[in-house]
Amino acid sequence: MEFIGDLSQAAPRLVHAGLDRSGLTSARDQLVESLRALARAGIVHADLSVYNLLWGEALLVVIDFRQAVEVTTNLEAPALLHRDLVNVATSLGRRGVALDVEAVFAQLLTDAFSGPYTAPP
Ligand SMILES: Nc1ncnc2c1ncn2[C@@H]1O[C@H](COP(=O)(O)OP(=O)(O)OP(=O)(O)O)[C@@H](O)[C@H]1O
Ligand SMILES: [Mg+2]
Repeated sequence: MEFIGDLSQAAPRLVHAGLDRSGLTSARDQLVESLRALARAGIVHADLSVYNLLWGEALLVVIDFRQAVEVTTNLEAPALLHRDLVNVATSLGRRGVALDVEAVFAQLLTDAFSGPYTAPP
């Protein structure tokens, strides 16, 4: 757990960060990398939106994992992952930045199911 922000205020939500297209493109690319790392760890956020992303000094930070699910054990996980991607793609698309939902979805499922093997207890 780490506070994202400075002494005077918390880092803004992505939706309130006032980014131009190049900032949003960087945010999108960082988001995909973060989602790939999460997928490899077997985690679907399941409440992803531009309100649960912080923009701290050019660094995108995903927050609010309270609804997160395990990708390999929750039958809803793929649908939730797809919904997450549609949510952010819709917001980014409105601001002129494309996110290829189906391509990223396929990549994340591949990541999730080829992640590190952990032996059962
Ligand atoms: N600046 C921040 N730095 C680190 N973690 C944060 C920061 N802001 C929020 N969080 C964490 O994210 C989690 C959820 O916060 P969030 O503000 O999204 O709550 P919320 O009830 O979902 O509100 P909202 O409906 O606006 O999304 C909490 O665990 C909170 O500590
Ligand atoms: Mg939240």
